[in-house]
Amino acid sequence: MNGPSRRQLLIGGGGLALAGVGARAWQQGLLGGDNPALAAWDDWSSGRQAGPLKLVGAAVLAASPHNTQPWAFAVGRLGVDIFEIASRSLGTMDPFGRERLAGLGAAIHNMALASTAVGRAARVRLLPDPGNPAHVARILLGPDGSGPAPHPLLPFIGRRHTHRGSWRGGPVSTPKLIALLAFPAFPDVRVALFEAASPRGQRFAALTAEATAAIVADSAMMADSHRWFRHERSEAMRRMDGLTLATSGVSPLLAAGAALLPAQSAQSEGRFWLEATRDSHLPTASLFGLVLTPRPHDRRSAMLVGSAWQRLHLNATMAGLAAQPLNQLPEMIDREAQLGRKAGFARAADALLDDPAWRPGFGFRIGIADAPAGAALRRPVSAVIGPPARLAFEVDQWRAAGGAF
Ligand SMILES: Cc1cc2nc3c(=O)[nH]c(=O)nc-3n(C[C@H](O)[C@H](O)[C@H](O)COP(=O)(O)O)c2cc1C
Repeated sequence: MNGPSRRQLLIGGGGLALAGVGARAWQQGLLGGDNPALAAWDDWSSGRQAGPLKLVGAAVLAASPHNTQPWAFAVGRLGVDIFEIASRSLGTMDPFGRERLAGLGAAIHNMALASTAVGRAARVRLLPDPGNPAHVARILLGPDGSGPAPHPLLPFIGRRHTHRGSWRGGPVSTPKLIALLAFPAFPDVRVALFEAASPRGQRFAALTAEATAAIVADSAMMADSHRWFRHERSEAMRRMDGLTLATSGVSPLLAAGAALLPAQSAQSEGRFWLEATRDSHLPTASLFGLVLTPRPHDRRSAMLVGSAWQRLHLNATMAGLAAQPLNQLPEMIDREAQLGRKAGFARAADALLDDPAWRPGFGFRIGIADAPAGAALRRPVSAVIGPPARLAFEVDQWRAAGGAF
């Protein structure tokens, strides 16, 4: 087969750089019934949005840390603006907002892909307004018919789901590796993949387990994480964000059993997460990886890291591979910096890097699962757009055009 060799695609093998039961289960969203907090997935897959709204329909399905969905949109005839909602925060789990920006970058990547579904050429400008850093991107749309052909990843925007289950393990075939890594260069972003059994793969697993234990022992981090766990169906339906038992990776049977128990505390969530990481996530992965960047806290770089993850996960979905972010290591690197502690995790991460100037911006695992993961809650398009913002966008464009369209 032509193209890069397996050794070139992987690090760590010596190659080059390139994670009653019925009633309670129902309450937790584990069993049947129409769930309006999942309708956004169907809206996209059934093609319910048209024009610039279609970009927002794709954006809301992007990955975001703890499913915080830290975004709002302004939609006009000429394009779409996306804004950071800093209050949708993970607190001490993400003290510098780096992960929040990664979520916004993921949404921007989906919007760029979705522009090919509306037949209008798109220009993406990151951080277009120096006076308003919360205005993270503007996607300008050209006239009808100006765009490229629909992107082959479009159908996978609605099928990409974070998979937190036990996988099969074993190697990923070379054609699948090539498909996984097929994406355009993002400035200042590199991807490093490690075979799980390789020395660097083992090092990644050991450091991720250690970082998970450190997070679980940090009560402020666990409390901030816990705020985004939705225990009751009514809360999930109202908020349409956050994490649920249904997407925690436990089998539906076990999840239904666990649903009998009272809502979990931050501590019991921590214990479950640590065990799942050590006994299931790490040992059943085929590949581990890092998205690297020289300046992980630069706002633009953090967004590009998130765009790269969204693309990797979409590629994985198209290739029939399962994927899960494993960000405990970058999270502990930030937490140590926030507390002014010795940079223990940052130094330990050097062992995973060919060039220590390229820092870990995002960690993950890739592998082979027997069944696909379920969809996570989402706020629909109608909940994330607003008339005042729309007006601002059109006025801006009107001014830029010299006062006339
Ligand atoms: C910056 C960032 C960090 C994340 N870190 C983790 C993580 O460490 N572990 C995990 O299981 N999921 C992680 N996720 C995945 C989110 O929890 C997930 O995207 C969100 O819950 C929505 O679910 P979905 O991806 O299935 O649509 C992360 C996502 C982003 C964008």
